[in-house]
Amino acid sequence: MTIADPDKNADNNAATQASASNDNPDTLKARHIRSFVHRRSHMTPGQKQAVELHMDKWALPYQASLLDYEQTFGRAAPTILEIGFGMGETTQKIAQLRADENFLGVEVFNAGVGALLKRIEESGTSNIRIIQHDAVEVVQNMIAPDSLAGVHIYFPDPWPKKRHHKRRLVRPDFIALLASRIKPGGYIHCATDWEDYAVQMLEVLSGEVLLRNTCADYAPKPDYRPQTKFETRGLRLGHGIRDLVFNRI
Ligand SMILES: C[S@@+](CC[C@H](N)C(=O)[O-])C[C@H]1O[C@@H](n2cnc3c(N)ncnc32)[C@H](O)[C@@H]1O
Repeated sequence: MTIADPDKNADNNAATQASASNDNPDTLKARHIRSFVHRRSHMTPGQKQAVELHMDKWALPYQASLLDYEQTFGRAAPTILEIGFGMGETTQKIAQLRADENFLGVEVFNAGVGALLKRIEESGTSNIRIIQHDAVEVVQNMIAPDSLAGVHIYFPDPWPKKRHHKRRLVRPDFIALLASRIKPGGYIHCATDWEDYAVQMLEVLSGEVLLRNTCADYAPKPDYRPQTKFETRGLRLGHGIRDLVFNRI
């Protein structure tokens, strides 16, 4: 939800805070550039109430040690990580459709966490867990190598200005780290409505030695991915939507 110019944002100093991990080859850099800007977001009364009542049940605190998926979800099942779930509508729909898999959603945005908690409760979906923290640090410190069945990154913040491209999530260092966390045979699925970000995604994912494209370039939209709010906005603006699906080799 960040199209704000961080150069004008008082929170900009937080953008280069130290990250905790030193375990090579997973270290992005001792200090990494944030893909988001912290800001207080307005929460509706319903989202606030969902956080107050249900955070303990469905959300996990960030920790600098590996997550045990079986313990977290109460069952052994393939685990999919979603980075930046926004308001969580896609997360909840996919988790309901794919009830035999676990979904770990990571998001920094307060209102988004509240919105997904509300959806979980209203729909009775039980295979979602939330971590409210920077996904880069979550992947570095909580996700074991070769452990994920899949990764979803849908409509990540495009950071359209050239000088902000360094804030984009899909960049070589983060994708190398992420690929190392996916099991052989697992997948990463990205989607964007920004043409030049789609080109960057294709280049970065194609350049990662642990990944292989499932298609010649862009993929047809998989049936399980519903249309999101950001996608609807992109379509309204006349943007083309591009999906990319790569497998971990
Ligand atoms: C443009 S929104 C897209 C939301 C959703 N995926 C969709 O398709 O509607 C991108 C989201 O990614 C989140 N985000 C950006 N960088 C993140 C990070 N490093 N860790 C966790 N969430 C992040 C933002 O807070 C924002 O909600």
